[in-house]
Amino acid sequence: MTHSKKRIGILTSGGDCPGLNAVIRAIVKCANRREGWEVYGIPYGTDGFIEVAKGNRQPEELRLWEHGYDIPGVLQGLDLLQFFSGSVLGSLSKGDTREPEVAQRILEGYKKLELDALISLGGDGSLDIIYELAQKGNWNLIGIPKTIDNDVPFTERSVGFDTAVDTVTAALYNLTFTAASHERVMVAQVMGRNAGHLALHAGIAGGADVILLPELTPIINEEEVRRICEKIASLRKEMRRFALVVVAEGVEHEDRRQTREIGYYVAEQIKEYSKRFCDAGEANFCGMDQMDTRVTVLGHLQRSGTPSSFDRLMATNFGIKAVDLVAAEQYNRLVVWEGGKVESKPLEPVIQHIRRCHGERRCASPVDPYGFMVETARSLGIYVGLPPSCKPYQQEQSSATPTPAL
Ligand code: F6P
Repeated sequence: MTHSKKRIGILTSGGDCPGLNAVIRAIVKCANRREGWEVYGIPYGTDGFIEVAKGNRQPEELRLWEHGYDIPGVLQGLDLLQFFSGSVLGSLSKGDTREPEVAQRILEGYKKLELDALISLGGDGSLDIIYELAQKGNWNLIGIPKTIDNDVPFTERSVGFDTAVDTVTAALYNLTFTAASHERVMVAQVMGRNAGHLALHAGIAGGADVILLPELTPIINEEEVRRICEKIASLRKEMRRFALVVVAEGVEHEDRRQTREIGYYVAEQIKEYSKRFCDAGEANFCGMDQMDTRVTVLGHLQRSGTPSSFDRLMATNFGIKAVDLVAAEQYNRLVVWEGGKVESKPLEPVIQHIRRCHGERRCASPVDPYGFMVETARSLGIYVGLPPSCKPYQQEQSSATPTPAL
């Protein structure tokens, strides 16, 4: 469909994150003001198309206008949207879009809206799903990466990551002083699915002593627990009587039958093994075996909070870039952050990479075990697992292949 004034749709899919509204706001402002286009917000991801197809939602109801003119008094006209986290459109993180009848309904809804293009905000899984639908329906698609996990390949940053790093860093700061007051080992479990970016960045910024990542310490076994305990015991020698351990949720128990959250398992293992080592006559573990452990699972707090200024700026620039691409009719592209700038890349190889990695059950954009951020942690004396040179076998087997450049 081509109109003289374009009609574009926006949707958010997958888990929400801070900064989505800042993208939406920028798209609406830029498309309305600069281009004079109509913008439609699809409610709850692809579900919105189904509702349109069924006639439960009329296209006019989905029109998006610049926000703020309904705010009373002196605040009238103030556009607050970029300050709120979540998605004003609602998001969808589950669904059966690969069922032929469901896909058919979605394509019907898209057609009914007579859209010239769709801008879709998603993580690796949801971008893959939307791309497949776009191919079927011949949609003009632009993707924008968003996720607190920062695991969308071919972009250095995804919307929401920076704010989540701030949130976790603040939580670690708050845990530090209560840990110190009670001579405790505080274990903080951090989101990120099977990527360790959030744990690594926040762990460094928040002063962690140990950071456990799926890319470097994928399995917590006895040898790993010993090294963690050694680190904590060494702190005690330096008169530090508390410790902060950050564990990414993607790290796994050695015992596959374990169903407890990994943070609880790590805390319990530290307690149990330090006592066992001390009882076996390893004097350097005596003392630390008396330290209490406590666990904080940060959970969905990491998905909210006022978007950081970086996230707001990047989100705003992403939104404007997406409008630029639609204006230039350069479709099937992913907006990316690269070298401090907003760029775009063809979606096809990005999606192929995601599919390949997911097929092999590995992360599409893991922490680079040789990267500078891991080196930074090591230089500070943070335990992040053995250096790669100490475990050549695991290196070869590592799933943490850096994302190829386009
Ligand atoms: O992908 C974002 C994320 O927040 C992950 O870090 C986390 O594992 C997952 O989503 C949680 O998903 P849900 O909100 O469905 O519980």
